This record gives sequence, structure tokens and C-alpha cells, in this order.
Amino acid sequence: MNAIDLDDLKAIKKIDEDGMLKTIEDFPLQCREAVDLACGLSFDIPSDMRSVVVLGMGGSGIGGDIAKVLLEDELRIPFLVNKGYLLPRFVDDKTLCFAVSYSGNTEETLSGFDQAVERGCPVISITTGGLLENKAEERSLPIVKIPKGLQPRAALGYLSLPILVVLERMALIGDKGQGIQETLAILDERAKNFSPHKPLNQNEAKILATRLCGKVPVIYGSDGPTSVAALRWKCQFNENSKVPAFWNVFPELNHNETVGWELLGDITDHFLLLLLRDAEESERVKKRVEITRSLIEGRFGGASEVWSGGKSRLARTFSLIYLGDFVSFYLAALNGVNPSPVERISVLKRRLSEE
Ligand code: F6R
Repeated sequence: MNAIDLDDLKAIKKIDEDGMLKTIEDFPLQCREAVDLACGLSFDIPSDMRSVVVLGMGGSGIGGDIAKVLLEDELRIPFLVNKGYLLPRFVDDKTLCFAVSYSGNTEETLSGFDQAVERGCPVISITTGGLLENKAEERSLPIVKIPKGLQPRAALGYLSLPILVVLERMALIGDKGQGIQETLAILDERAKNFSPHKPLNQNEAKILATRLCGKVPVIYGSDGPTSVAALRWKCQFNENSKVPAFWNVFPELNHNETVGWELLGDITDHFLLLLLRDAEESERVKKRVEITRSLIEGRFGGASEVWSGGKSRLARTFSLIYLGDFVSFYLAALNGVNPSPVERISVLKRRLSEE
């Protein structure tokens, strides 16, 4: 198969049958709407919460991972993202729960919701509808009702920002207004820079996708914004571009994975190393990344570094995530696959629901 020309808008449109590109381009707008929706939510929850738990899977659960990373330098109570059926024992009526499910029908999230309600937690749901909406409505619990019609992973603004806004409104964290404004400005600028109208030789997203074509991405971040961005890049390569991808974080990867690049060079030659970098990473991490790159780069079929933009944690996280969304989209186009459907996830959920 001959890969398409990424500057050929007609060819891109033909592959992108369900309009993923438009959703990615509209992401700054989505973030604005998400903030407004959460500002308008009415809820009455005491502010003496002792922990926060986000229930969510996949494209919805990562909303919790993002919030966790954004808040870890200021939130004074533990924050857990629960990705499974069972809630840990510590969760009780002093745990603020967010149940996040785009469809509202994800069984792990629904199971967590039931347990949270049983234990008397205040629960805020973020969803388009489904069983989660029904369950929350039955108990008159607050719901951030978000628009239908997107792939969950394409609704990241709706699924992450309301968590921040609610915690800010409860005075559990400080004012996020400035960070949000900075982030929106950066996203607007990036939407132009990574747009399909920007030719390949001036478009970082198209250039990276071209480098990745035919390769398995291995994405390394480090503690903080680049860790969750690395996870997001991996998931977007899986779901949009339909390729395997792997991620890990410094410093932990230095204690195991670094050694794993010693043998099997004829296989690892088909892998491409992507290092997600952040101006705020510590001197020790910087040094680790540099030494590690020099040790393992030769085992890969190429390596690239990508830097976050902006000052606030929010801007640095979202700037990287946004680039990854475009790269995964262009890689889908180069692979000749429609980025939107996730057939295997749908089949799996269907089969699981059979008696
Ligand atoms: C699909 C996607 C998936 C879903 C996951 C949970 O775009 O990203 O990872 O997010 O299967 O489903 P929801 O989000 O409906 O709870």
C-alpha cells in the first residue's frame, strides 16, 4: 500500500470517514465548553473531603489521570484513579468520587459507582447518558452532562476539565483561571500549526507521523505532565492509528526497561523512541534522559524528542497531548485506516454483555 500525501486534503477526508480531524481541530472549543458546563453544575458537597477517587476506563479514565498529574503539586488529600471493578477499602463517605464514562455504560465504572453510593460517598458523574445517568438521576446525584456523538477519547476536554473546576469550586485547589486561559491560547495556536492546511515541511505533527510510519512507537515521559502525555500518546496510537505502542516513565524505567533494549536488535530496529520533554523536569531527570538516550538509541530505528509548551502544568500537559492527537491522526491517514472506529473494543463489550 502506498501511503497518502499528508498535504492532500481530499485524500485525508476520504480516510477520515467519521470526522475525527474536525473533532481534534475543535478541541480548544470543547475545552471552553467543558469549563462552562462544570461552572454551571449545581452540587452541595461538604469541603472536608479526605480523598478523591476518579472511576473511569480508557478514554474516560485518562481524564482522571490528567487531573491527578495536574493537581499533584497542590492537592493536600490523596487522589486515586480507579480502573477496575472494585473500590479500595479506604473509600468512604469522606471520599469525593467522580464517575467518568462517556457512554455511561462501562461496567467497571458502573460497578465502582454502585459501591461508592453504598459507602455514602458524594458522587459526581460525567457522562453523555446511559446507565450511569439513570443511576445518578434515580438518586438525585449531580451530573455533568456532556454532548453525545464523539468517540470517548475525542472528548478529553469534557472528561478531564470538569474535575478541576469542581475541585476549584470546593476550594480544594487554587484558582485555575490563568492556567486555563494560557492553555486555550496555546491550543488555538497549535490547532493552526498542526492543521492539515499547514504543509508537511512546516508541520511538526505531519513530520512525526511520517517518521513513525511502519514503526512501533515507544514513548517515554517522566514524573509529571509528560507521564500522562506519554500514556495518552500510546492510547491514541493504539485507537486512532491502530498500531501497537508502548510507554513508560523516568526514573522508574531506568531500573528495568533500559536493560531490555540490549538484545533483539533486528526486531527493535522497527521501534521508534519518542522522548516527551518538559522544561520543568528536574536536573536529575534531565541527566537520566540524556544518559539513557545515549545508551539505548542505537537499538531503535530512530529517536525524536518532543517538548511541551507553556508555563502552567495544564498548558504543558495539554500542549503535548494535543500534538500527540494530531500525530496519531496523521499516522492513521498514512496507514490508510479510519481513525474513529474501535471495532475490537465494541466487539469485546458486545460479547461481554451476552448471557
Ligand atoms: C473509545 C475509547 C475507549 C473508551 C472505554 C470506556 O474511544 O477511548 O477507551 O473510553 O472503552 O468507555 P466509556 O468512555 O464510554 O466509559
